[in-house]
Amino acid sequence: MAILEIRKFPDEVLKRKALPVEDINGGLQKLIDDMIETMYAAPGIGLAAPQVGVSKRLIVLDVGYKDGSSSLLTIINPELILTDELIDSEEGCLSVPGHVVNVKRSARVAVRGLDRNGKPLEIEAEGLLARALQHEIDHLEGILILDRLGPFRRELLKKRILKERRLEAQR
Ligand code: NI
Repeated sequence: MAILEIRKFPDEVLKRKALPVEDINGGLQKLIDDMIETMYAAPGIGLAAPQVGVSKRLIVLDVGYKDGSSSLLTIINPELILTDELIDSEEGCLSVPGHVVNVKRSARVAVRGLDRNGKPLEIEAEGLLARALQHEIDHLEGILILDRLGPFRRELLKKRILKERRLEAQR
């Protein structure tokens, strides 16, 4: 296994709509293992393939491991099939490090996809898992938490982050 580089805003791959996974082969299994290792090392509770530079519809999540109730999920070609009323909550992202923003998300969701062996999977979730699923599926559409802000706050924050990146690059 290997820890992969996490791509950060404004990396172009994060803006792209990811393509469906068609072959569940050895290369994909290695990518899944590497994504899981990268997620835990970050540490993060979820990671989408575009965040490691691979524009494919694949996400890994484990919202419970930080508090000892680990439940690792790998979903290939995930689809949101049911949503609920929207609620506001704070969210961060490994591709937008150092910033937490308020994002409206469905309180409960149902998601359909394939597990890492290609077996159909359907899960219902609420709370943090529901939020994390929506966040990771957004990544597959090229949507970041910044894009979920109103236009004024979005442009302000994007400008601020681009400035931070320039300062980092000068160091
Ligand atoms: Ni993210």
